[in-house]
Amino acid sequence: MRLLKIIFSVTILFVSFTSAQNANFEKKIDALLKRMTIEEKIGQLTQYSGDRKATGPVTFKGDSEKLIREGKIGAMLNVIGADYTRRYQEVAMQSRLKIPLLFGQDVIHGFKTTFPIPLAEAASWDLEAIERSARLAAVEASAAGLHWTFAPMVDICRDPRWGRVMEGAGEDTYLGSRIAFARVRGFQGRGLGNVDSVMACAKHFAAYGAAVGGRDYNSVDMSERQLWETYLPPFKAAADAGAATFMNSFNDLNGIPATGNRYLQRDILKGKWNFSGFVVSDWGSIGEMAAHGYVEDRRAAALAAITAGSDMDMESGAYRDNLAGLVKTGEVPVAVVDDAVRRVLRKKFELGLFDDPYKFSDPAREQRELNNPEHLAFAREIARKSIVLLKNENRTLPLSKDVKTVALIGPLAKAVRDNHGFWSVELPGVDYDKLIVTQFDGIKNKLGSDSRLLYAEGCDVDCRTDEKFAGAVETARQADVVILSVGERANQSGEAKSRSNIHLPGMQEELIRKIQATGKPVVVLINAGRPLVFDWTADNVPAILYTWWLGSEAGNAIADVLFGDYNPAARLPITFPRTEGQIPIYYNHFNTGRPPRGDDSTNYVSAYIDLKNSPRFPFGFGLSYTSFEYRDLKLDKKRMRANDKLEVSLKVTNTGRLAGEEVVQLYLRDRVASVVRPVKELRDFRKLALRPGETKEVRFVIDKEKLSFYDQKLQWTAEPGRFDLMIGASSADIRLSDSFELVD
Ligand code: GLC
Repeated sequence: MRLLKIIFSVTILFVSFTSAQNANFEKKIDALLKRMTIEEKIGQLTQYSGDRKATGPVTFKGDSEKLIREGKIGAMLNVIGADYTRRYQEVAMQSRLKIPLLFGQDVIHGFKTTFPIPLAEAASWDLEAIERSARLAAVEASAAGLHWTFAPMVDICRDPRWGRVMEGAGEDTYLGSRIAFARVRGFQGRGLGNVDSVMACAKHFAAYGAAVGGRDYNSVDMSERQLWETYLPPFKAAADAGAATFMNSFNDLNGIPATGNRYLQRDILKGKWNFSGFVVSDWGSIGEMAAHGYVEDRRAAALAAITAGSDMDMESGAYRDNLAGLVKTGEVPVAVVDDAVRRVLRKKFELGLFDDPYKFSDPAREQRELNNPEHLAFAREIARKSIVLLKNENRTLPLSKDVKTVALIGPLAKAVRDNHGFWSVELPGVDYDKLIVTQFDGIKNKLGSDSRLLYAEGCDVDCRTDEKFAGAVETARQADVVILSVGERANQSGEAKSRSNIHLPGMQEELIRKIQATGKPVVVLINAGRPLVFDWTADNVPAILYTWWLGSEAGNAIADVLFGDYNPAARLPITFPRTEGQIPIYYNHFNTGRPPRGDDSTNYVSAYIDLKNSPRFPFGFGLSYTSFEYRDLKLDKKRMRANDKLEVSLKVTNTGRLAGEEVVQLYLRDRVASVVRPVKELRDFRKLALRPGETKEVRFVIDKEKLSFYDQKLQWTAEPGRFDLMIGASSADIRLSDSFELVD
């Protein structure tokens, strides 16, 4: 009881301290606003990229130091390093009001220590590990002078042609929301003001991942229901986690560019969700509204954007050139500008930059934190957790470390920088060849001294010629086991990297066929930032690991899985299509009036006559070196009222010879409702570790929230009726099921 009292009083003290501090900030902001000229106010709403790297079509070519000194720039991006940021901050301290700069950066999956691409991390279904990944990235980024990361990207994506699928958490709203929350918590840590915390930025607001045709920057058109039900919840989760900033998106949404979309930015984000942070435009997106044909010119773009709630202008210069005139004519009330400036200044106060503009620019901390052994050890751990075992026939895996000769073949076996994936941070003066463990090195590190590791490239990534196939086949013949490393380059996914053809590139599958024909045991590693199509390989090769792009410790992590030092436990966060023609294909689809009955039914049902109906690999799928049995599903009631909680329990046993982890997935189906409902929806999951023979009880709680959806009036509601409850090892492998009634 005494402890409770202490916790309660500490909490009260903390809350009252924070609110007093915030009130204090507001007073300081009021005082500052009174002293600022309109040009200085607009300066706080202007962000430019440094001169070392552009992450978009360069629009600004000017003397940023001069503008900073004049108080006409309030934030930079692509300025990295304790010394480099200090230099720019010193210039800002020469300005009239000495308002410190913000330094933002795409710290998407690690920093100098690179972690797996976000889609790979999502495959771990390990929320603690995902939060820690963001946490360590923030520790490194903040040590390099950065205050702000343009992450997490929380765009739901059901179309793997879209290159930025690599940057998010896949197709599912529930999993994506849990991961969004974890990533924001990781980046912001104990809260702004702590020197190892950076501002998170939930992006791209909103529905950017639903671009028509999977073509980046393309239009998005969807019902209000789909927007609210599928695409907004991860943003709400990020806001609930306290995300300091949001970034709007390049796409038009239902005819209105997101950057100029009042409904999104003012009605939903700042209104309904009561968001007190600030919104930054995506690179140049304000000016691009003219290209959209939504406004006549950049002046009109500035008017539309600031009115709609886009607070800071990244790179377009539209605010710098037009906002003062718009205020002068009264088209933009000065109060609108003041609100935007207040939001930006609030974050600078919360970060502690007014107290010490240089607090993040500390070379000693930078030296200590970047790429340290603790971070590298974690990089290996989360990389292993992200590897998906897609196939393992004849117990091909794990390989024995006593194997005499291993042949490692393929265009990506010795890839270096590719292992970092897209959106890895490029630090000046770093020799990445020394920083990244390649697959070749990882396997070599693992093998005993009397084992041989042979290598053949087979072909380059494009694989347009088979001239080296014979050499690769000859190398394979000399080996006891062959590991084939194929896939796409890291820069074939990411921003502006949509692909119409997501098959393994060129003749890579021909190479696999030739190697398979040697009769040797073959393990295929597929490296990619998205689901790829590899139908023949999936049908004919005995063992397949999906290795995405895993970061600094990629080679060691892959070797750990190959040789059984880690039992793979990842599950797909996105559906893998059989071919591009199946896209969009996702697990939580509606049933339709003529659902196919099985994989090959085509007679008057919703199906293709030239392709099986199922995906190549379903959402939530992944194998293990052991096996798991599910039993004893119990519901503590079969009829629940809206305010009840329904307790679900079951038992899971490791029935194999090796310790392993299982991701127990809970899916629900609302059988009949006032709008059609998906055939199943992920509503919870547990990842549990089990020793051989060990049984654990798993518990879930179903409440009204898990039964709710947007009805015909877009009211969030749960309707009485029958619900199917499914416990699956994947969305397509339902092990136990039952049903219950919601009675009111
Ligand atoms: C890019 C991306 C955005 C990124 C920004 C700054 O165009 O769309 O995600 O944060 O520009 O690099």
